[in-house]
Amino acid sequence: MAKAAVQHACSECGYTTGKWLGRCPDCGSWGTLVEERALAAAPGVRGGAAAGRPLLRLVEVEAADAARLPTGVPELDRVLGGGLVPASLVLVSGDPGIGKSTLLLMALRAMSAERKVVLVTGEESPAQVKLRADRLGGGAAVDVLAETNLDEVCATLERERPEVCVVDSVQTLYAPELGSAPGSVAQVREAAGRLLRVAKEHGVATFLVGHVTKEGAVAGPRVLEHLVDCVLHFEGDRYRSHRILRAVKNRFGSTNELGVFEMTSEGLAAVADPSELFGRPDEEQPGSAVVCTIEGTRPLLLEVQALVSPTDLAMPRRVGTGVDPKRLSMVVAVLGRHAGVALGAADVFVNVAGGVRIDEPGADLGVALAIASAARGAPVKRGVACFGEIGLTGRIRPVSQAERRLAECAKLGFSEVLVPDGTESRGRMRLTAAATLRTAISAGLDASGSSEG
Ligand SMILES: Nc1ncnc2c1ncn2[C@@H]1O[C@H](COP(=O)(O)OP(=O)(O)OP(=O)(O)O)[C@@H](O)[C@H]1O
Ligand SMILES: [Mg+2]
Ligand SMILES: [Zn+2]
Repeated sequence: MAKAAVQHACSECGYTTGKWLGRCPDCGSWGTLVEERALAAAPGVRGGAAAGRPLLRLVEVEAADAARLPTGVPELDRVLGGGLVPASLVLVSGDPGIGKSTLLLMALRAMSAERKVVLVTGEESPAQVKLRADRLGGGAAVDVLAETNLDEVCATLERERPEVCVVDSVQTLYAPELGSAPGSVAQVREAAGRLLRVAKEHGVATFLVGHVTKEGAVAGPRVLEHLVDCVLHFEGDRYRSHRILRAVKNRFGSTNELGVFEMTSEGLAAVADPSELFGRPDEEQPGSAVVCTIEGTRPLLLEVQALVSPTDLAMPRRVGTGVDPKRLSMVVAVLGRHAGVALGAADVFVNVAGGVRIDEPGADLGVALAIASAARGAPVKRGVACFGEIGLTGRIRPVSQAERRLAECAKLGFSEVLVPDGTESRGRMRLTAAATLRTAISAGLDASGSSEG
């Protein structure tokens, strides 16, 4: 007999503790610990003595290599690492209204031409799903199950054995025997655990939709990250039409790939040339620089914007959106120490246009150039893009895949690229090589409009 014990679980990260705390000791969130009744018996224990199982020799294990399923949405395939792996469990998380249901319904529609696919909808009625499908061009052969009872969902999947299934959303499912409310940490974990078993045992590749929530009562997708094979984040600016899909965890591929979409009335359209979208400043103004980064296998031109404003604060602010804060502090320090751009009495704000995050050292030079341009009131020269990693000594270090970056700059019509010393050019592009940050700044800024010497 299972007995109920009171425990408190963090809806942000899943940390559990016996007593209530105002702040989660694990992830540091405030007010996210909520009371849950948990079953004392470990789930999955079915009784009966275990007799031990035969071992498998790894060389004898048959793995259907390269048997990935194309989802019909090439940008999704790219982020998954070349298509959907059969029997895998993929968590798709994102803010409300960002387009998770749209993305996955598009994939289901495309896949339903050749495979059996099921949409488990706990959030919307079949009629609502139908309306969305019509907007995307018709329902095709997608089977819909409107159900939130976990036992029913699992039993149906075991009976129907679809090749692909979408559960929208995992937070709406509940196992009645758990006693806690749908969306609680215990429920969400139980649902994901049971669906994982169905996925692996019956070969159902499963997408779980998980909402990023701000209220403590509903467990966030982070609670499930360790359990699933892949975690995809769907993000973007709600007020603009583009969306970015990225892998945060991928057991079968790189986590550097980006998928870029535009939300249109017919659904999500792939953006073939994201640089066009993110790398074009409207006009040359101080505080803006274009940098070419590499996201996975794809070069991406991004506009970096900076604002430098005098402050009386003892600890001036360094605020970056889309830039790693440690990287930003480092660039600010190097600018001051080695490039003559003193920022000790100024707040520095940096923003990557389009809500893209840059995680790549090759973008350092763009961040530095944007800040230097803002600090000196001098715009970056017309038609100039850049890339390069900045070292602590103020030198510019070479970066990987320079050739592809240059090709991207050329394609988007930049006439000159500021690059680390030693970068070779094979194209018609004009390269300005700089060994140090100081020389890069004087080569990159248009001094004619400068407000400082
Ligand atoms: N007719 C339309 N034309 C253009 N965009 C639309 C249209 N209808 C809906 N959208 C867009 O689709 C978004 C909703 O997409 P979707 O329902 O797939 O998001 P979701 O992430 O599943 O949201 P939820 O959190 O509500 O489940 C809306 O925010 C809106 O931007
Ligand atoms: Mg939805
Ligand atoms: Zn926590």
